[in-house]
Amino acid sequence: MEKLRNLINITDLSTQEIEELIQVADDIVARPEHYQDICQHKKLATLFFEPSTRTRLSFEAAMLELGGSVLGFSSANSSSAAKGESVSDTIQTVGNYVDIIAMRHPKEGAPVVGASRTSVPIINAGDGGHFHPTQTLTDLLTIHRKKGRFDHLTIGLCGDLKFGRTVHSLIEAMTRYDSVEFVLISPNELQIPNYLKHLMDEAQVKWSETTDLETALPALDILYMTRVQKERFFNEADYIRLKDSYILDLDKLRHAQEELVIMHPLPRVNEIATEVDDDPRACYFFQALCGKHIRMALILFLLGITTGGTQNV
Ligand code: CP
Repeated sequence: MEKLRNLINITDLSTQEIEELIQVADDIVARPEHYQDICQHKKLATLFFEPSTRTRLSFEAAMLELGGSVLGFSSANSSSAAKGESVSDTIQTVGNYVDIIAMRHPKEGAPVVGASRTSVPIINAGDGGHFHPTQTLTDLLTIHRKKGRFDHLTIGLCGDLKFGRTVHSLIEAMTRYDSVEFVLISPNELQIPNYLKHLMDEAQVKWSETTDLETALPALDILYMTRVQKERFFNEADYIRLKDSYILDLDKLRHAQEELVIMHPLPRVNEIATEVDDDPRACYFFQALCGKHIRMALILFLLGITTGGTQNV
């Protein structure tokens, strides 16, 4: 059987393919009835070896709204991984039962190992501190719906830029567009990895680093807040010292643009005060909704199901 495409990293998709996914996601909202049975008799497995709310449930909601079925597990402890089974054996087994697999694993590279053991498409739903490409698709759809473009944007990335895999994938995606500038706001200990700095330099993307959110805010079109990733720290004392480095509140937002788009992949801990949620610039729950629409489009794409033409193209 011919191996279908996987999605391991956002760079597995061309910019044209991303634009097509966005068009299909928008068409799904415009014409839900056209899609409600399109995945009948197809099955998605969600294999989550790490906790998740949005990614797993939006994948499952996506498949159900396409008329398909879902099965899987939400923690390593409820699978035979708890008995010592390897990722490759788990994927080789589950690949016999389903048409497509979304998996999250704490080890970087686990989805690549999984993809080598099955002919069904593997979607990386987050691998350690590495990549989270479907969050990036979610972020791109949110940016497109709110700003109508990907170019000429100044994007502030704030918080844990070292371990925050959503930030890494977003940088990889946005360096493809013209006149994008990044402002990297983090404590010194949580700066982005050097390979991403090299990547931005090679793409001739402007970037700067600061520890000061308030000074950076007025220039930003998009502010992407992130949680300090407790689960990736070796030392609890370091986590406690750094966890509240940035707390966005209404007072700080007085210095921001009226058209600012505030994003966060969620879950949040303290980094955005709940008083910000009702500000029209707060887009993070809208972002979570976009996650379902783009995952519907992605499932169709990876299964090779044509949508019969979108209404708007
Ligand atoms: N954004 C995100 O990955 O959220 P979950 O961990 O809840 O899936």
